[in-house]
Amino acid sequence: MAVLVTGASGFVGGAVCRALVASGEGVRALARSDAAAETVAALGARPVRGSLEDPGSLVEAARGVEVVYHVAGRNEPCPRDLAGLYRANVAGAVAVVEAAARAGARRVVLTSSAAAIGEPRGSVATEETVPVGFPSHYARSKYLGERAAFETAARFGIELVAVLPSSVQGPGRATGSARLFRLAASRRRLVVPDTAFGIVDVDDCARGHLLAARRGGAGRRYLLSGATVTAAEAVRLVAEALGRTVEVRAVGRRLLRLAVPVAAVLPGDLVCPDTLRTLAHGHRFDARRSREELGLDYTPVAETVARTVRWLRSTGAL
Ligand SMILES: NC(=O)c1ccc[n+]([C@@H]2O[C@H](COP(=O)([O-])OP(=O)(O)OC[C@H]3O[C@@H](n4cnc5c(N)ncnc54)[C@H](OP(=O)(O)O)[C@@H]3O)[C@@H](O)[C@H]2O)c1
Repeated sequence: MAVLVTGASGFVGGAVCRALVASGEGVRALARSDAAAETVAALGARPVRGSLEDPGSLVEAARGVEVVYHVAGRNEPCPRDLAGLYRANVAGAVAVVEAAARAGARRVVLTSSAAAIGEPRGSVATEETVPVGFPSHYARSKYLGERAAFETAARFGIELVAVLPSSVQGPGRATGSARLFRLAASRRRLVVPDTAFGIVDVDDCARGHLLAARRGGAGRRYLLSGATVTAAEAVRLVAEALGRTVEVRAVGRRLLRLAVPVAAVLPGDLVCPDTLRTLAHGHRFDARRSREELGLDYTPVAETVARTVRWLRSTGAL
């Protein structure tokens, strides 16, 4: 039977789509524009026109499909349209799960986020950590979306497995952290926040999705995170892959907190109160469940960084 992927024209969904095509699955991909349809067709999937806002199109897209990979969502660190963010990540997830059930699919694999855990600052988060709060609207929207998706799945009697990737890195990511690669390529000294975050290679993330479909327990969530690095370590890894030396200094959390009101009036989509709060919070994840239950093994971070550098060079971005 075929599978359906939403968000296949994006970074994570594209990798999931490629992995599914490579494994021999008949892949349909939801596309809401001609450009998205072209992108997914180039990956080897069959484009199906529709969007998260059009429930009828979702049911049609999922008809005759066994597994729906719901990857589509708004991944915005500094959202300007908050209502749109929550609509896509919460109502969109509910709409896809309901449509999959109505169309007769067996299972939905939902791309949630490690940010949806909401762990206390300084702790090592697992899938069972009780949420205490969220440093960003993005994180809150992903938490609410995942929770609503599980409630909808229970109501409609369809299997749901959630995967929770940490920061997805690798070839294909031209925004966000790609800026760090460009900075490390051009500066001799860098000041970075004293923070830590989880990283998962984009190909590991895609394999995690396929393994969740095959081996994941219905109703379970799986963190996908290969390693934890500090921002300073990340710069050093990038510099090493570039074959250069960058002097790194880390600024403390207190300074980040003080900068929050200033960030509120800055233009741009990367520095805003939500990103500073996220950096001041930091994240450490324990993804043991994905190794033990899904059998997922992770690429060493240095290899992911080296591959990304090669890709950025090939695109002329470095
Ligand atoms: N990147 C990460 O580090 C990371 C980490 C954890 C979780 N995630 C999650 O992974 C998912 C994908 O993120 P990404 O980084 O790959 O983002 P991305 O590159 O911006 O891709 C987003 C995808 O969602 C589609 N989409 C958005 N709104 C839609 C709508 N209303 N109807 C139909 N399709 C819609 C986009 O379609 P168009 O091409 O038409 O815009 C695109 O295919 C998100 O749910 C995000 O929360 C990402």
